[in-house]
Amino acid sequence: DQSAPHDAPAPAPATPAPAPDLFTWEFAANPYPAYAWLRENAPVRWTRLPSGVGAWLVTRYGDARQALADQRLSKNPAHHDEPAHAKGKTGIPGERKAELMTHLLNIDPPDHTRLRRLVSKAFTPRRVAEFAPRVQELTDDLIGRFAGRGSADLIHEFAFPLPIYAICDLLGVPREDQDDFRDWAGMMIRHQGGPRGGVARSVKMMRGYLSELIHRKREALPAEPTPGEDLISGLIRASDHGEHLTENEAAAMAFILLFAGFETTVNLIGNGALALLTHPEQRARLQRSLAAGERDLLATGVEELLRFDGPVELATWRFATGPLTLGGQDIAAGDPVLVVLAAADRDPERFADPDTLDLSRSDNQHLGYGHGIHYCLGAPLARLEGQSALGTLLTRLPDLRLAVEPAELRWRGGLIMRGLRTLPVEFTPLQ
Ligand code: HEM
Repeated sequence: DQSAPHDAPAPAPATPAPAPDLFTWEFAANPYPAYAWLRENAPVRWTRLPSGVGAWLVTRYGDARQALADQRLSKNPAHHDEPAHAKGKTGIPGERKAELMTHLLNIDPPDHTRLRRLVSKAFTPRRVAEFAPRVQELTDDLIGRFAGRGSADLIHEFAFPLPIYAICDLLGVPREDQDDFRDWAGMMIRHQGGPRGGVARSVKMMRGYLSELIHRKREALPAEPTPGEDLISGLIRASDHGEHLTENEAAAMAFILLFAGFETTVNLIGNGALALLTHPEQRARLQRSLAAGERDLLATGVEELLRFDGPVELATWRFATGPLTLGGQDIAAGDPVLVVLAAADRDPERFADPDTLDLSRSDNQHLGYGHGIHYCLGAPLARLEGQSALGTLLTRLPDLRLAVEPAELRWRGGLIMRGLRTLPVEFTPLQ
């Protein structure tokens, strides 16, 4: 058993505090004390995950940043050296070799470089900026649907639909099909950590739909790009101009954009709204600044919300391609490494008063979007959506408040993502 040496008892920690339990419900509600313990006592620690797979958890900012950029840590699950790997039962995405899994987050250079270049061409900052009025329209429309009622569940009625419609628009999924996507995405989120059948079914439906859509768009593609051309058409065009992109890679690309850009943004809006509602002074400050027509505090504020309680708790899987040392810890070839972004972003070695929410924090090079060659491709879109959603919410519903005690809120408890199941709020209804 390759992993046996890691399970030997760890040397006694220097401090008497016992090692915290990870992955319990209590931990899901507030993982930060456990992360503080890990940073101080075992910054690179071999840990059994709920699925039974072992992985190194990296919790200090310096080590995390280094690991994210280290090319010896591969994204390709084929490098995973775990007996369960052969059976495909580890729960690691991509180990089942599904066709949609050959995407950016599961591959290394040179394939990664080629595919990332193609998608960057179709997903330019200008394209995202052009998208701002549409995101604002979606935001206003969703708020309008519950504003007259005086209460809402901000996850289901706001945070969840906004990103899915935004990404569908960006990809070029016709409006009449977008509710199907909403349903498939809902199945993927709801079944996380639960029965696998629902996820597999919804992935299959998406796969079939995307292949057909790519095919249709390829047939109908005009010779010259039109202004505001959708992303799938842009990808097809890029691949038809000399650079190789198979239809399967195009489908996998569309899928990763949906997958990476959906639940993350749901949680940015959900976790961000909760942090604002539970920090009245910071929230009042932001409302004053928005009322004065300023956007600066909103911009630094959304970055701070990402650092303080970001959507991605752990960066996606990495596997050592050879022996290496990280934070003084020897790591063997084939070992999985999980970089705990949520822990790194509260590291007092890097951030002053890391447990304090400061919307005007300026020295804020957080790792919420990752670092290195896999740095979040969708960061400009996520910023746009986060600012639009949270800014508009506080402006239109100025007395927004939680309808339950914070301790009553339930977290999803997934491994990679950190997000709420529901966020019930109340406010004075708009006429
Ligand atoms: C990669 C976070 C929104 C597309 C990543 C990574 C992180 C991240 C941490 C790197 C993972 C790793 O290295 O293991 C976030 C957060 C978001 C967000 C916090 C929202 C607040 C989006 C959106 C899109 C998107 C809206 C696109 C529509 C991607 C893609 C990658 C990625 C394609 C893979 C890039 C690569 O491997 O080269 N994201 N993301 N993300 N993200 Fe995002």
